[in-house]
Amino acid sequence: MTRLRRLRRTEAIRNLFAMDRPSRNRFIWPVFLVEGSGRKESIDSMPGQYRWSADRLVEEFPAGVKSVLLFGQTEGEKDEIGSSAADPGGVVQRAIPLLKKAFPDLVVFTDVCLCAYTSHGHCGPHDGEGDIDNDAACEMLARVAVSHARAGADGVAPSAMMDGQIAAIREALDEEGFKKTLLIAYSTKFASTLYGPFRDAENSAPSQGDRQGYQASYRDPDTAVRESLVDEAEGADALMVKPALWYLDLIGKVRARTLLPVMAYNVSGEYSMIQAAAKAGFCDLYPAARESLYAIFRAGATQVISYWTPFYDEIFGKDA
Ligand code: PBG
Ligand code: ZN
Repeated sequence: MTRLRRLRRTEAIRNLFAMDRPSRNRFIWPVFLVEGSGRKESIDSMPGQYRWSADRLVEEFPAGVKSVLLFGQTEGEKDEIGSSAADPGGVVQRAIPLLKKAFPDLVVFTDVCLCAYTSHGHCGPHDGEGDIDNDAACEMLARVAVSHARAGADGVAPSAMMDGQIAAIREALDEEGFKKTLLIAYSTKFASTLYGPFRDAENSAPSQGDRQGYQASYRDPDTAVRESLVDEAEGADALMVKPALWYLDLIGKVRARTLLPVMAYNVSGEYSMIQAAAKAGFCDLYPAARESLYAIFRAGATQVISYWTPFYDEIFGKDA
């Protein structure tokens, strides 16, 4: 008889044959920024996550977090094109130098999109026919990316799913002298129900319609893989699959076709579902989080963007 149980008889034997826990170096923490000072506001749909003013974030920055992905929003005027996203005095642009000064080794990425700054909540302005205007969006996204680079971001991560956005942003960065700024493509990003808690946190839900006209379709996985290949060809430094847990197959497929890093975005809905299930007594919080994170790395992700990042010790152990 084949006795596979021999390979897992004791904990020491199991450890010998198991994969190691993912290093904390592989984790990127998404952070929601707001204006003002002294602010740390809880988010109903995302227990354990907050909307931070930059000063408070610096004060209470969680130990062991190596990298962040910053999300901004405005409490001021929103317009058709999301102009305030490129404001040098915006929350993201102002937070970057503060974070860099306090934590010089922190790797700072920024989300580049317009939906938290447009009056209608879409990721680009409308054209004459009511569609989202791809090329006008790209121009605006390039301005936003340059404003983040100018503030000192290590990398910019455009999430609008416009065609040509990677090429447009790389060209603008280079022209403005930001040749060293990393360009992290949200390359295979699906139109997903799992972004609900995030849109609540960011006040970025579209007031009309949905994002199916620009985000990838989960019913067309081949085109979804092409999204990543096109972004690689346009000059992305890293690719991404988003969401992660319902798209583990796509993480594997993209990984099989590239030598670039393949990040996975473990999105708000994935985090909040586990939080809610644990609260209802259906599972234990940190063991469930751990199992789900192993799944993402097993599928082939090289880094994970995850709201669990500040809870690394609780999930994987302090000595890890
Ligand atoms: C903005 C953006 C979204 C997320 C990241 N960037 C929301 C969306 O596309 O509607 C989702 C992140 C999450 O759910 O954790 N374009
Ligand atoms: Zn957007």
